Formats: sequence, C-alpha cells, structure tokens
Amino acid sequence: MRILSIETSCDETAISIVDAMGGVTRPRFIVRSNIILSQAKLHAEYGGVFPALAKREHAKALTPLLEQSLKEAKLFHTKKSSAFTPALTKKLEAIFTHEQELSTAFLALIPSIKKPAVDAIAVTHGPGLEPALWVGVNFARALSLVWDIPLIPVNHMEGHIYGSLVEEKWNKLTLAPLSLPAVALLVSGGHTELVLIKKLRSYKLLGKTRDDAIGEAFDKVARMLGLPYPGGPAISKLAKEASHLEAFPLPRPMIKSGDLDFSFSGLKTSVLYAIKKLGHALTDEERLRIAKGFQDSVVEVIATKVAGAVRAHGARTVIAGGGVAANKQIRAALEAAAEQEGFVLRVPPLHLSTDNALMIAVAAYGKKPLKGAQVTRLRAQGNLTLT
Ligand code: KG4
Ligand code: ZN
Repeated sequence: MRILSIETSCDETAISIVDAMGGVTRPRFIVRSNIILSQAKLHAEYGGVFPALAKREHAKALTPLLEQSLKEAKLFHTKKSSAFTPALTKKLEAIFTHEQELSTAFLALIPSIKKPAVDAIAVTHGPGLEPALWVGVNFARALSLVWDIPLIPVNHMEGHIYGSLVEEKWNKLTLAPLSLPAVALLVSGGHTELVLIKKLRSYKLLGKTRDDAIGEAFDKVARMLGLPYPGGPAISKLAKEASHLEAFPLPRPMIKSGDLDFSFSGLKTSVLYAIKKLGHALTDEERLRIAKGFQDSVVEVIATKVAGAVRAHGARTVIAGGGVAANKQIRAALEAAAEQEGFVLRVPPLHLSTDNALMIAVAAYGKKPLKGAQVTRLRAQGNLTLT
C-alpha cells in the first residue's frame, strides 16, 4: 500500500510518500519521497520554538511541499481545474475555519490536480505544539475528504519508536527485528520518557521527567552559553572540542532516586548559578568546560536510568528515539551499557532522529484507518500520551 504522511508537531514541516509491503511480520518500505523543511533558523531569534510562528510557517509550507513530494514520487498530474461541489466546499470551509492561509493555498492547487494513487494518509495528531499539530491534521483531513483516501492518525512518539527500528539501504527500508520486552527511551524537545513494550503497539510508562525535557534543557543551557537554537547539536559540538579539558562539575539529578523518573530543571539552574558565580563574561574555555560538564551529567543520568529499566523489566532491547537520541555521546554511552547489560540497542539513522514524516508513515503501516465520523472527530492533541 502507498502511504502519504504528514508531520507538523513542532518546527519541522515534513511530508513523505512510501510504498509499504510485507505486513506486520516482514514490513518493508520503498521511499518515493521524503522532504523536511526546518523552521529552526526562524525560531533561533526567540531561542526556542514560537508556536504562533510555527503554525504560520506550516500553513505556508504544506501545500508547496505536497506538490514537491507528489512530483518526486511521480504522482503529480494536472487536470482541468474543476470546482468542488457546494457540499464539499462547505465541509472544507468547516475544516479550514482557523486556517485561512492554508485554505487559500489548498484551493489554489488541489482542484487542478488528479487524485494521486495513494492508499492512506497518515498524520501526526499529537503530542506536540497544538496550533502546529492542527495545521497538519486539518490539511490531512481536507486531502482525505477531497480524494476519498482513508486517514491514519499517528502518535508522534510512536513515530520516533518506529523510526528507531528503521534500517535503510538507499531508498529501501526494513524494520529491525524486535526482541521483546523492550524499553524505549524517548528524548526530545518535549519529552523524556522510559516506556516498556511487552507486546507490539502496547506501551507502559515506566518513568518520565518531573520538569524540563532533556532537549529543552539542552536548548536553555545553550542559550545561557550564548549558543544558537537548537541547543543540542551546538552543545554537543562544544563538548567534543572540550575533550582535552576538565568538565565543569555539575550534579547528576535523581541518579540515585531509585525510580525511573528524571529531573533537569535543577541541572539547568546549577549552570545558571555557576555562570553567575564566575561573575564575568564566559571565556571560551569556561564555555567549553560547562558544555562538557552539562553533557556528561545528562549522559550519565540517562545511561544509569536505562540500565535500571532494563534490569527491572528484563528488557532484551532498548530503543532510543527523539531528537536528543542524535547525540553521539548519548549513543556511545548506551552502546557501552548494551555491551555490559547484554541488550540490543536500536537507534535511528541520524537523519531520522529529529522530526521527519518517514517515521510517521512507517508507524502508520499496520494501523487501522479512521472511519466515517471518526475522521470529522479527529483532533490535534498537544498532550497525547502513548499509554
Ligand atoms: O524530536 P525532535 O526533533 O523534536 C521534538 O519532538 O521535540 O527533538 C528536538 C530536540 C531539540 O531540543 C534539540 O536541541 C535536540 O532535540 N537535539 C539534540 C541533538 N540534536 C537535536 N540534543 C542533543 N544532542 C544532539 N545532537
Ligand atoms: Zn520529535
């Protein structure tokens, strides 16, 4: 089956088109198109993602991205533009009530192209920034309605889990065999969670952050160090440059808490106090040592908690997903833990660590599409959970 997937949960507008085959036992995918448009540079000015700007940029980007991906997948065929029936127009107006700009772009393109040979439309409906999610959800609902193609809502975190199982050879993807039980470490700008998977598609929350998400802490500490958004890659780069320097001493929050929860707001405050205590503009060397100290702390806490979760639940696999899982030191520490504890580590190809639509298509394969009134009732849910 051919899946068109849409992702707008944060600051990446992404669309992919894949051919999926093999069923749940041997899923395989051929990537026909995979486009990601990052808004990160626009948000850099604000030091983080600004929701109203994210919404506007998604609305601007979606229709041209759809055109580009249909063209790449050789599914773009124009026709003589024909007006929608009054009934359809009325339904579209209802979908686009809060999306004027998107509606205009949609109506300028869709009536003049032929329905593409696509079997399902997958869309991220949460968690994430609700205004941003709504743009993708409404776009997907409108396409599903006009083209009469079934709609499959996907949880963004389930997308990250499936993204981490992807093994790719050029444009052909397979999913790594998953030995259960597995523990998923989900670390992104909005999430820090450990999730137990005993059965495919069934999730149990083992622990989560009590305050800031790890990615958020990376972004905030980066800001304190005068580094650009997104902070993760910037801190990771400095920490690498600091390899010959002594790490700035910082606490390891909740490392001995005895549970699987996390806390990063105290660590962030420790960095702030340390900078204040120095009492002058940071020297290059101090900046490097703090970046290294911060990253060391995060890496040690994560590796300890993951090992704890594996032991407590007899996990055979650890799946690391989400933007922060792109971090090389975190990957290295998890690899070391895998050796020591005897579990299999699954991490995504680097380009599928941060947000993308391919992981949404892969996670959608095997899920039941919505029917009838369910499509109209589909909502964006900023706080959607996996469990
Ligand atoms: O999954 P993602 O792309 O978006 C969300 O769903 O939040 O994750 C984005 C987060 C940002 O906070 C960014 O700073 C962080 O992932 N990130 C990293 C790295 N690359 C991205 N954090 C640490 N090290 C990295 N190399
Ligand atoms: Zn994400």
